[in-house]
Amino acid sequence: MSYKLGLIGFPIKHSLSPWIHKQFFERTNLEGSYSIMEISTEKDFLEEMKQLKEKELNGFNVTVPYKVKIIEHLDVLDEQAEKIGAVNTVLCKNGKWIGYNTDGIGYLRSLLSKYPELANEEEKSVLILGAGGAAKGIYHALIHHGFNNVTIANRSLEKAEQLLGTREHVMTLEEAEKQINIFDIIIQTTSVGMKPNQDKSIISLNHLKENAVVSDIIYQPLMTSFLKQAKSLHRSIHFGHTMLLYQAQYAFEIWTGKQPDMENMDKALQNILEG
Ligand code: ATR
Repeated sequence: MSYKLGLIGFPIKHSLSPWIHKQFFERTNLEGSYSIMEISTEKDFLEEMKQLKEKELNGFNVTVPYKVKIIEHLDVLDEQAEKIGAVNTVLCKNGKWIGYNTDGIGYLRSLLSKYPELANEEEKSVLILGAGGAAKGIYHALIHHGFNNVTIANRSLEKAEQLLGTREHVMTLEEAEKQINIFDIIIQTTSVGMKPNQDKSIISLNHLKENAVVSDIIYQPLMTSFLKQAKSLHRSIHFGHTMLLYQAQYAFEIWTGKQPDMENMDKALQNILEG
């Protein structure tokens, strides 16, 4: 068979997903296509969904601004996606649309594939900076995986409290900066430091723990000011583009049942991003 896959969102003309899935088809010896199906926000979304159903796709990805809006058009919602309240992957099976969210699990896979020792039994203390959609996916994936000691620091404390469902484990960004030495894993999920504001960093990293791993989900630029600080302190760092690769890997698995080999994908995508 030949898989018919694609992406909906707006704007998505420069998406890297078609390239990633082309590599996955080659690596798994499967046949298929992955197309960009841009839906302008001025269009009638219900009508667009009716037309999409007629395309008889095997599955598709959903990105901004439709990750929440898609939910009412689904027949089934996976448990993790329900917790997160957003869907980035739809499996079309026997005429039904099933919604998943692969962002958080993809992120965790990317982190653990680079630093497998983080999954050992000793409890790790995790700090997430930011409380938006990306932070939510990552938080639920961490909890699902058994990381029980997770703190969220955010500019708006209400948003962090809402995400956690408690005031415990919530910090201001200033508190996080002061107490940074208690964390083993630090995950930057805000948009601060993204091009064209690459000189900005959400907090300064001065007293990092000896073995801390510092991660940023921004991939434009790859080496953010946040990661530069960690590198200058000789700490381990983790780049944002790998999340993009592993969320796609998990989506591909949901659609085809095959897990593409990721060898050298990281470097290849890095080359594309760095031109
Ligand atoms: P995403 O879905 O990509 O996570 P989002 O939902 O818009 O994006 O979340 C953006 C995150 O970046 C939020 O945590 C936001 O903080 P607030 O909840 O306080 O708005 C954070 N953020 C964005 N700009 C920021 C800034 N200039 N300073 C501090 N935090 C910022």
